[in-house]
Amino acid sequence: MTPREIVNALDRYIIGQDEAKRAVAIALRNRYRRSCLSPELREEITPKNIILLGPTGVGKTEIARRLAKLVDAPFVKVEASKYTEVGYVGRDVESMVRDLVEESIRLTKQKRMDLVKDAAAAATEQRLVELLLPQQKKQQRTVNPLQFLLGSGQPEPEEPKPTEEEQQARKTLKEQTLERLRAGLLEKEIVEIEVEESVNAMMFGASGMEIDMGGMLGDLLPKKKKSKRMPVEHARSILMQQESEKRIDPDDVNREALQNAEQNGIIFLDEIDKIAGSANQMGGADVSREGVQRDILPIVEGTTVSTKYGPVKTDFILFIGAGAFHVAKVSDLIPELQGRFPIRVTLKDLTEDDFYAILTQPDNAITKQYAALLRPDNVNLSFTEDALREIAKFAFRANEQNENIGARRLHTVMENLLNDISFNANGQHPLIDVVVDGAYVDAHLSAEWGEDNISKYIL
Ligand SMILES: Nc1ncnc2c1ncn2[C@@H]1O[C@H](COP(=O)(O)OP(=O)(O)OP(=O)(O)O)[C@@H](O)[C@H]1O
Ligand SMILES: [Mg+2]
Repeated sequence: MTPREIVNALDRYIIGQDEAKRAVAIALRNRYRRSCLSPELREEITPKNIILLGPTGVGKTEIARRLAKLVDAPFVKVEASKYTEVGYVGRDVESMVRDLVEESIRLTKQKRMDLVKDAAAAATEQRLVELLLPQQKKQQRTVNPLQFLLGSGQPEPEEPKPTEEEQQARKTLKEQTLERLRAGLLEKEIVEIEVEESVNAMMFGASGMEIDMGGMLGDLLPKKKKSKRMPVEHARSILMQQESEKRIDPDDVNREALQNAEQNGIIFLDEIDKIAGSANQMGGADVSREGVQRDILPIVEGTTVSTKYGPVKTDFILFIGAGAFHVAKVSDLIPELQGRFPIRVTLKDLTEDDFYAILTQPDNAITKQYAALLRPDNVNLSFTEDALREIAKFAFRANEQNENIGARRLHTVMENLLNDISFNANGQHPLIDVVVDGAYVDAHLSAEWGEDNISKYIL
């Protein structure tokens, strides 16, 4: 995608914040540009990491979320505040790279599986048919135990070869079963299949630290197999999985996934301001915060992290940091870390007009969400133009007079506004049209709008 296309795609969900959209779009495109270069030159070019700054609720995390759906690259969003310094209880920072690799593996596998989808589906169908056919009777063999022990005994009686007719009959039966299977008539039939038992050995150490034994040893421990009876509809997806996996080479997947994570991976470090502690307020927690920053440093700078799929170089992974930075400042981050994020983009406070746009324009706009939610209860909800203007105005005023929580305010205001409708709709009436107009908004929001009643809108 070209930068312009990326911005356009983001525009469908995020109002305004053009500068931030441009910055991430350019960074993404630069990954592609770099991949076109000669290997020597490519080694020289490292990504320019970005920090998105801005007040709460203006779209920082939302941009990351949308970006993740957009790009075909391994992408993880992690919260910086979740990590702890090495040696402390909690997640160490290297796990973010492991998460990225895990995601990359999933992506690569998915791609490969798509390629073998048709073949796997055909094989699955064949196996289901075999499972559905009445089992051919095996002749019970009786062996004389004494002879068995002595290892002699008569030569085993040959199984009688099925006759021509029997074969023919079985073939027709097979065809019939296949037909019925395809027509969806056999979905509830019970079949017995072999499934692998996953080694589910999450162990919780005494310290409460999680050790993912299954993850660490999963590939070493032999997988237990077990027969399970289940309806065709469930069996199909399991068989499909088995058949697909048979057709892809795990080593190949690993290699490609590691490479993809190294070259195209993106890590979105949300809440990065939460690990910034200014020097004068050093307390218990802050010591650890600075430790986390120091731990993150080499990862952003470029180091090699070992994962269960192999070592991963982090030199070319793109990092996008985001944080409100309303208490801590970017300058409260340790200088080395600040230096690793050369691009700073500030997201703007949203205006009343932005609120109006957020209410209506995005593909997932809240007004559309509420309308969709009430549909099953036979309510056809719509808003008039002036109602939407009023809502935007109320939300904006509430933000001005109380804490500014950005677009999140719209959610609280809408929830309050539609409280009665949401409560009363019960689906036991015929489809009714409910039109929310300016007067309704005024009546519902102004009534509680007295200076002392404002608390209702505070989260
Ligand atoms: N510019 C915007 N366009 C559309 N919707 C937005 C925008 N900004 C915020 N929203 C809405 O507000 C919600 C909160 O935004 P988001 O999670 O991006 O906040 P944030 O900037 O990450 O804030 P914080 O610093 O508190 O994490 C989103 O779920 C989204 O619905
Ligand atoms: Mg956020």
